Amino acid sequence: MKHTAISQILKMEPSLHEVTVKGWVRSFRSNRFIAVNDGSTIHNLQCVIDFSTFDEEVLKQITTGAAIEVTGQLVESQGQGQSVEIQASSVRVLGTADPEEVKLTILSPKRHTLEKLREQAHLRVRTNTFGAVMRLRSKLAFAVHQYFQNNGFYYMNAPIITGSDAEGAGEMFKVTAMDLKNTKKTEDGKVDFSEDFFEKETNLTVSGQLEAETYAMGLGKVYTFGPTFRAENSNTSRHLAEFWMIEPEIAFCDLHGNMDLAEDFIKYVVKYALDNCQDDLEFLENRLLDEEKSKPQAERSEMTLRDKLSFIVDNNFKRVSYTEAIDILKRSKPNQKKKFKYIIEEWGADLQSEHERYLVEKHFKCPVILFDYPATIKAFYMRLNDDGKTVRAMDVLFPGIGEIVGGSQREERYDVLKEKMKAMDISEEELYWYLDLRKFGTCVHSGFGLGFERLVQFVTGMGNIRDVIPYPRTPGNAAF
Ligand code: 4AD
Ligand code: MG
Repeated sequence: MKHTAISQILKMEPSLHEVTVKGWVRSFRSNRFIAVNDGSTIHNLQCVIDFSTFDEEVLKQITTGAAIEVTGQLVESQGQGQSVEIQASSVRVLGTADPEEVKLTILSPKRHTLEKLREQAHLRVRTNTFGAVMRLRSKLAFAVHQYFQNNGFYYMNAPIITGSDAEGAGEMFKVTAMDLKNTKKTEDGKVDFSEDFFEKETNLTVSGQLEAETYAMGLGKVYTFGPTFRAENSNTSRHLAEFWMIEPEIAFCDLHGNMDLAEDFIKYVVKYALDNCQDDLEFLENRLLDEEKSKPQAERSEMTLRDKLSFIVDNNFKRVSYTEAIDILKRSKPNQKKKFKYIIEEWGADLQSEHERYLVEKHFKCPVILFDYPATIKAFYMRLNDDGKTVRAMDVLFPGIGEIVGGSQREERYDVLKEKMKAMDISEEELYWYLDLRKFGTCVHSGFGLGFERLVQFVTGMGNIRDVIPYPRTPGNAAF
C-alpha cells in the first residue's frame, strides 16, 4: 500500500480521505496518542486511536521504537504545535521493539549525552539531534553539487587508492591486498600478505587534488567530492581519519579568483541551508540555546545559530596576508599572549589553531582568508611568489571552526616545480604524470579543498566533528 511522508502530511489540509504513514513510534501515551516519526522531518505526527476498538495484542506491541503503519483520516489537531493529526482506523505493527531492551538503548525517551549516542552509532539517527544533523548533511551535499553544476564545473572522481602522497605529509593509510580464501599461510600459520597486488606501495588518498589538476587541464573547471583519509594522530573535535573533501580545480584562475570562488561557494551553501532547512535549523538552534544556558553569563554567545549563518552570508570575508597576520599576533596585548600555548616570535612559524581562532573570533570578528604563506610550511605544489620565500597559498578560517578551506594557486612552471620537488625530496619518477602537465600546455591554475564535515559542523553548530558523520573514524575508534 502507498504511504505518504510525514513531512508532506504536515503540510496537508484536513480531509475526509484516508492517508497512510509508516514510521517508528517515538511515544505512546494514555493508550491513545502515538507520536510517529519517519525521518522525513524533525516533527512527529500524532496518531490518535480509540483503544476500545483495537485488538489488545496489537496495542501491547505499540511501544517506543516499534515500526508501524497507521491509516486514518487527517483531522484538525486539538494538540498544541501541530495543525493536523491522524484519527487512526487501523494500526499495523511492522516490527516490534522489546521495551526491556529499548530501556537499555538510546532509544529510551530521556536525555542522553552525545558521547553515549556515539556508542550506539547505528541507532543515533533515530534521535531528533542526529535526524536534524543528517538531513542537513544531505541537503548541504546537494547544495555543493548544485553550486558547481550551475557554474560550469564537471564532477570528477579522483581515485581512492593511490600511489602518491598529494600533501607530502606522510600521514597515510597503507593498502594491503587480501584474499583470505586463497592467500598463502606463512610457516607459523599466519596469513601472508606479502603478495604485492599493485606491484608498488599504495595508500588511501589524502586528497584528490593532483588528479583533479590533470582533469582541469582538459575539462577546464572540475570538482571532486569524495572520501579522503589521514593517519594523523590528532584526537581533536575537528579531525577525522576519514573525512569527505570537496576540491574544485580551475584552469586559467589565479589566487584571487580562487579566493573569490571559495567565498562565493561557501556563502551559497550556507544560504541554501538557511532557505531550505528551516525546521531542522530551528531545532538545532534551540538545542544550542539550552547548552548556552548551562554556561556562565559571560561565556554565553549573543548570536543564535541562524544569526551566525546569516552573518556569513551577508558579510565579506577579510583577506589578510600571512605577514600581516604575524604582525597582528606579535602586537597582541600581553594578557592575550599569556593565553597562547605557543607564542609566535618569528616570521615563518606555522600558525596554530589558537592563533587562527584569535584572528577570526577576537581580532577581525569575521571569516578570514589568510594568503601568501612562507614556502617552507606549505606543500610542494604551491606557486612560488617573486619574493622567493612565500607561496600563493590560502586558508579560509571560520569562527568556532578554525581552518575550513586550504588551497592555492599551483606552481605551473616546469623547472621551478622540478626544483621544489627535489628540494623537498619528492620523487620525480613517482610524479612524472604530474610534472607532465607542465610540459603540455601548462597554464595558471588554482584550487582548494573544503572539509565537508567542518562545514556541516559550522552549519549545525555541533561542537564535535564525530557528531556530523554517520560513522566517525578517529584514532582507536573504528568499532563498526
Ligand atoms: O589543507 P588541506 O590539507 O588541503 C589539501 O588537502 C589540498 N590538497 C586541498 C586542495 O588544494 N585541493 O585540507 C583541506 C581541508 C582543510 O581545510 C580542512 O577543512 C579539511 O580539509 N581537513 C580535515 N577535515 C577533517 N579531518 C581532518 N583530519 C582534516 N584534514 C583536513
Ligand atoms: Mg591545510
